[in-house]
Parts: sequence; structure tokens; C-alpha cells
Amino acid sequence: MARIVVLVGMMGSGKTTVGKRLASRIGCRFVDTDDLVVAAAGKPVRAIFEHDGEPEFRRLESAALVQALSSGDDLVVAAAGGTVLSEANRAAMREHAACVVWLDADVATLGQRTARGAHRPLIDDDPQAKLATLDRERRALYESVADARVDTAGLDVDEVVSAAAAALAKVRAS
Ligand code: S3P
Repeated sequence: MARIVVLVGMMGSGKTTVGKRLASRIGCRFVDTDDLVVAAAGKPVRAIFEHDGEPEFRRLESAALVQALSSGDDLVVAAAGGTVLSEANRAAMREHAACVVWLDADVATLGQRTARGAHRPLIDDDPQAKLATLDRERRALYESVADARVDTAGLDVDEVVSAAAAALAKVRAS
């Protein structure tokens, strides 16, 4: 069975940046579900939200997650922030992923990191308040799928990669 690491967490938690470096450190391929969605739809995330609506985006997102998880390759998957909302997605993660790592951060940190995000229409108006609401709604879901949680606040990217790699090694050894 393929050895798959899934990174979950809020927008701005660092899934993509950390995921790329973690994949190169442990020697496997990196996939971001947002990239698969954009490739399938042939348009950017923002355009999908605006022209087709959030439900269609979520449908594409679920298909992207399943596509990544069933590729048969050893992978690090950055699962976009909302993937945990679907019970089917959470079940797919539990079924396929060797390890699910939750990259966590406080809302102020998330707000700083998402300041320039063009693919995040859900936080267009008052990002800080929107992030706080989404974080409140989703924390229990991230926790429910996670084998390990890394608190990323105050850490630089390499420190988060090291913490995630250590968490992964611990889970794989258990
Ligand atoms: C979303 C997160 C975004 C993107 C979309 C919706 C969410 O991805 O999929 O804007 O609902 O949390 P990142 O988590 O990679 O920012």
C-alpha cells in the first residue's frame, strides 16, 4: 500500500509550502488538491466559486482528494482547508492515509499568512473575522482526522517541516 501523508489545516497554516519541502525531504511526490481542482475545472479556484458556486467547488475537491489518495504513489498531499467538511472525505483520509498531520496556528498568524491569497474567496471581506469563524467551525474536524498536530505559530517553514517529519516518524513507528 502506498505511504501517504495528508496535511490538513486552515488556509494559511502552511500546507503547500511545508508539504513541498516535506515531500522532498522524505523522497516522495507532492500533490495539492487545489491544483487538481484547477486542472479538472480548467479555471482558477476563485472563478469556480464565482461562476459555479461553492457546492461545485466542494464536489471537485472531493474528486481531487480521492484522485490523490488512490494514485498508488507514495505522496504528501496538501488537502485544502475545507476538505475535512465532508464525512466522505474524512473517511477517505482515514482509509488511505498512513498519517494525517494537522498544521495548526492561531487566527492572528493565519491572518498574516493569508494576506496575499488570491484563491481564497471565502475570506475576501474581513479576513480575520472569517478565519476566526471557519477555525471555530472546523477545529474539531481537523482534530478528528489527525494522527498528529503541529502548532506552527512562531515556527519558520523548516522548523515546521522538521516537526511534521518527527510526528510522521513517531506515528509510523507506533
Ligand atoms: C478553502 C481553502 C483554500 C481553497 C478555497 C477554500 C477553505 O485552500 O481550497 O479557497 O474552505 O478553507 P487552502 O487551504 O490551500 O488555502
